[in-house]
Amino acid sequence: MYLTKWEEKALQGEFGEALEISMRTLVKVCKTLKAEKLIEVGHAHISGVSYFNIGDEGLEFLEDLAKKGAHVSVYTSANPLSVALIPMFNHLYSNEVIAKQKRIAELLISMGVDEKSFTCAPYKLRKPSYGEHLAWAESSAVAYANSVIGARTNREGGILSLMAAIAGRTCFCGMHIPRNRYPTEVIEVGFDVDSIALASSLGLYIGKITKGVPYIKVNIKLGGRVRDVAIRSLLASIATTSSSALTFIEGVSPEADRVDTKSIERVPIDLGDIRGILEELCTDGLYIGCPHIDLDEAHEILSNILPSLTKLGVNKIYITLPMYEHKKLNTLRTLLNGVEVLYLPGACLVVSNLRDLNIDSVATVHGKAYHYMPKLAGARSCLVKAV
Ligand code: F3S
Repeated sequence: MYLTKWEEKALQGEFGEALEISMRTLVKVCKTLKAEKLIEVGHAHISGVSYFNIGDEGLEFLEDLAKKGAHVSVYTSANPLSVALIPMFNHLYSNEVIAKQKRIAELLISMGVDEKSFTCAPYKLRKPSYGEHLAWAESSAVAYANSVIGARTNREGGILSLMAAIAGRTCFCGMHIPRNRYPTEVIEVGFDVDSIALASSLGLYIGKITKGVPYIKVNIKLGGRVRDVAIRSLLASIATTSSSALTFIEGVSPEADRVDTKSIERVPIDLGDIRGILEELCTDGLYIGCPHIDLDEAHEILSNILPSLTKLGVNKIYITLPMYEHKKLNTLRTLLNGVEVLYLPGACLVVSNLRDLNIDSVATVHGKAYHYMPKLAGARSCLVKAV
């Protein structure tokens, strides 16, 4: 594998132990992936930062790396934490869990990670440019960067994205190479997508049938900020049931009109194909913000749905949003039209332990939360057409 002079020196430890570890890890992984070289990145995004996910071993690894002088060399953001750091839930967790989750955040910030991030929508904090190379973990963000922005990133693993942040480069393979950014099938959607929940159901289904890079012809009949939230949920859902990092959406993806789809296999989808994914409400608590939404998006969604929620049977809404929105909130808990609204900045319900919060079921409009909630958070989930 080709390395520049600087990379050779970093690999030999000339610039310190932390950089040496990062380079050794990167070179090992990149050789396995048959990458011919490393590529410099403009932004790294780290996942795997919830204490419930990485446990004591992950925390010790971060402590050790920090002691060795680890510091990121490019702009770096991080994924949401568990809800253990949200004050209203503190009494439900042990002091040990809260302290360890806090320590993970402190260590990342000490290495240079943006303290305003802790979000799975890093493009809202720093929007990459078209064609920019990134090293992003977090499948939903990767899908958005490749598909809507036209940036280039593979789905990095949590540790590898941290190594890439320190070294400022990653493996030149996969989505970084233009010839791999080509559709594997054209999906013709025979119905209008008029809700976030329907976008999610469609995404979960497409993820199951794609050979890797779907090209979707679809009419998304939503306006305002809700439209982008639906697109993010569609992409996150595709990335949930597949390993896809890129989806072309006609009229949305900047690269979509540059690919010739004439000779590519056509796959029609109608409403009958996704029937059964949307369900009846299974509980009175609704989760919105997977991927994270910002406050403006949250307000727009709330004003659209609040009038009909109590009729539907929802009386509590959990909203996860980026950490930087924390300062704009006067309170994390409020009552609107008789519905209790809980804002959870910098957090994700899916990487929390919901049994500790006495939550056994969650309704959502997002395919990713619906899919992972039972597996990771220990709560039953249902996908409902609330918005
Ligand atoms: Fe984000 Fe958690 Fe969903 S990281 S995409 S809110 S599962």
